[in-house]
Parts: sequence; C-alpha cells; structure tokens
Amino acid sequence: MLTIAIPKGGLLPEAIALLQDIGLDFSAFLDKKNRQLQITDPTGTAQALLVRTHDVPVYVEYGQAQLGFAGYDVLREKKPDVANLLDLKFGGCRLSVAVPKSSPYKNPRQLPPNCRVASKFVNCAKDYFRELDLPIEVIPLHGSVELGPITGMSEAIVDLVSTGNTLRENNLEEVKVLFYSSVRLIAHPTSYRANRYDMVTLIRKLEQVL
Ligand code: PRP
Repeated sequence: MLTIAIPKGGLLPEAIALLQDIGLDFSAFLDKKNRQLQITDPTGTAQALLVRTHDVPVYVEYGQAQLGFAGYDVLREKKPDVANLLDLKFGGCRLSVAVPKSSPYKNPRQLPPNCRVASKFVNCAKDYFRELDLPIEVIPLHGSVELGPITGMSEAIVDLVSTGNTLRENNLEEVKVLFYSSVRLIAHPTSYRANRYDMVTLIRKLEQVL
C-alpha cells in the first residue's frame, strides 16, 4: 500500500481535495476533533501521514512515505534526496526579500555589508546573498518573520509572500523575488522504482485532474 505524506496547515484542504479527486479520501484529517496522524483511505488503497510542511521531504527521504506533497520552497531550502515528479499547481507563493517601506535600501544589493536578515529559509537566504557576494548575518526564525525589521532586529527579511497582505499590514515592501513556489509531488527514489506500477497509476490520475 502506498503511503503519502501530506502537509498540515493552510495547504491541507487543497491537498485533501486533490486526493479526493483521484478517489482517495483522507478528509478525516480536516475534522477539528481528529488527532490521528496516520489514516488509511476507506477503500484500503493508500495511507496518509499528516506532517508539518517542512517535514514532508524528511518522511519521503527516509522512505516512511513513498510519496509526499511538498512545497518547492521547502525543497529548495532542505535539498532532500527525493524525486520531484509533478507540479500540483496549488500553494502558489514566492520567496522574496522585503524591507520596511521607510528603508533607504530599495534593492538587496544596496543593503550594508554584515547587516542582518531574518528568515525561516536560512539556506535560501544565505545562497542568495552569497551569489550577490554580499556578506550578511541570517537570523533564523520559525514564524512572524516580519517582526525582524519592525522591531529593529534586522534590516530585511527573506520570507514567503502569497497575497502580500502580511507585508502591507506591517509596512514592508518586496524588493526582490528569489523564486516562485507551488506544491510538488515528490517520491522516494528507490520506492519509485520498486512500486513503479502503483506510482505511475497515481501520477496519471493526478495529471488527469490537474
Ligand atoms: C507565511 C509567510 C508570511 C505570510 C505571507 O506565514 O511567512 O508571513 O504567510 O502570506 P500573505 O502574503 O498571504 O500575507 P504563515 O502564515 O505561515 O505564518 P508564520 O509567520 O507564523 O510562519
């Protein structure tokens, strides 16, 4: 039986809806009272693991899930050893550099050397500024990254932007898009070869409904 790691939080309803479209029902995860983290589809075809967004590639990389729904942003950050099979075309967002509207720096290249940049995407931020040849200090955070510049802890942030509302409501502005992201179907490379028939059947069904 195939096991699929699916992300908790904002991406969950669309992940469940997409799986329902191909005949797999994991809607029990949407029940607020549900505390089960591993459930089997009522038809007994597949099982799903409910995990944090950043942990999806971990379960797939270790082979506990043969498949996973992972954000491209997370794949860029963690660089897991998994196969990136299909763009599932939901969870669209971008990873951007933002600064306070009042900032004199209107381009990341103008940021002063050794300034601080707060981010949940430490590796992506470091990679970007390394490419610019601009030494900076990345302050790792797990959420509410926008508070970095608001409190004066950092000059800029590298964070996900979707609607842009969080930036607007916190008087920040985007000065550079690093890359665009959406949710991808990922697979454990060896499992993909071993369960080729089941995997290909599931991928074909997903391609048809996308
Ligand atoms: C993400 C991201 C931004 C916000 C962007 O945070 O880190 O803060 O969403 O979305 P928007 O452009 O639609 O406003 P999330 O909601 O995951 O919360 P967090 O800050 O606690 O990580």
